[in-house]
Amino acid sequence: MTAMVEAFAQRLAIPAVVAPMFLVSGPDLVVECCRSGLAGTFPALNQRSSAGFDEWLCEIEERCGPDAAPYGVNLIVHKSNPRVEADLEICVKHKVPLVITSLGAVPDLVAAVHSYGGLVFHDVIQRRHAEKAAEAGVDGIIAVAAGAGGHAGTLSPFALLSEISEVFDGPLILSGAMSHGRHIAAARMMGAQFGYIGSHFIAAAESMASEPQKQMMIAASAKDITYTDKVTGVGANFLAPSLASATLPDGHGEMTLSDEARAWKTIWSAGHGVGSTREIRPAAAICAQLIAEYQAARAAFCE
Ligand SMILES: Cc1cc2nc3c(=O)[nH]c(=O)nc-3n(C[C@H](O)[C@H](O)[C@H](O)COP(=O)(O)O)c2cc1C
Repeated sequence: MTAMVEAFAQRLAIPAVVAPMFLVSGPDLVVECCRSGLAGTFPALNQRSSAGFDEWLCEIEERCGPDAAPYGVNLIVHKSNPRVEADLEICVKHKVPLVITSLGAVPDLVAAVHSYGGLVFHDVIQRRHAEKAAEAGVDGIIAVAAGAGGHAGTLSPFALLSEISEVFDGPLILSGAMSHGRHIAAARMMGAQFGYIGSHFIAAAESMASEPQKQMMIAASAKDITYTDKVTGVGANFLAPSLASATLPDGHGEMTLSDEARAWKTIWSAGHGVGSTREIRPAAAICAQLIAEYQAARAAFCE
């Protein structure tokens, strides 16, 4: 691990990042996770405007204070996102500790974040994207394996980590259906430095998901997750009951961000780990459980 990533890891209670989730993660969830010792993150696009995004960062910094774990922001780096440059400037202004990029891995963006000592983690579902991210100089690569919520990969985590580590010798962050501290410990044993956990926090009391969405999470198990490209044009995992009651886009032409936002409002994404969500709980309780489980798993394996 580089010194910068090491310093980031030392500010965490356990090596885990709570992943950014569209229409789910906002300041309340981020602040509770960071105060509990996990890196809380959110997509910049969860705020309607760059000005609103700036306000959220002010709020998060004020509520977290200096002792909380570092927070992160997800930027979608793609021509369909007209806000990316403005949002990056705001990240630089606030010295956002972790910027998570999706779709494009761009050297200029990495340089801008490095200029103030921030980190860039980039998410990938295959080796080719990891090669591009490595060339762009990112600090860590998020391996989004099969079973993850959102735009999940299709590869086994074992295969994906092995392939990425052939083209990138920096820190890896493993993602896909993690819901137990033991899973984070397992990710470390597999060669990743951090676990990356999304769906497990959808039913957190502080998440922005609606009450019906949280209840659907509680009722669901892995068999209720469907992988399809019919919603956004790219393969993603969804709660089957929300797909059943929805009208799917016609699939003609490229989707704009607003088409996609509309789709995600009524068709709810979640990963294969959904079966471990059994109640709505405060994020601090979810984090405390992950921390205790991780420590127990480490103790058991280090004996
Ligand atoms: C509802 C939902 C929305 C998501 N939105 C985003 C997003 O806006 N940007 C992003 O990079 N990843 C997004 N993801 C993917 C997560 O960041 C993360 O990769 C994934 O949740 C990890 O798998 P898990 O859900 O099985 O823990 C989303 C995932 C879910 C479940």
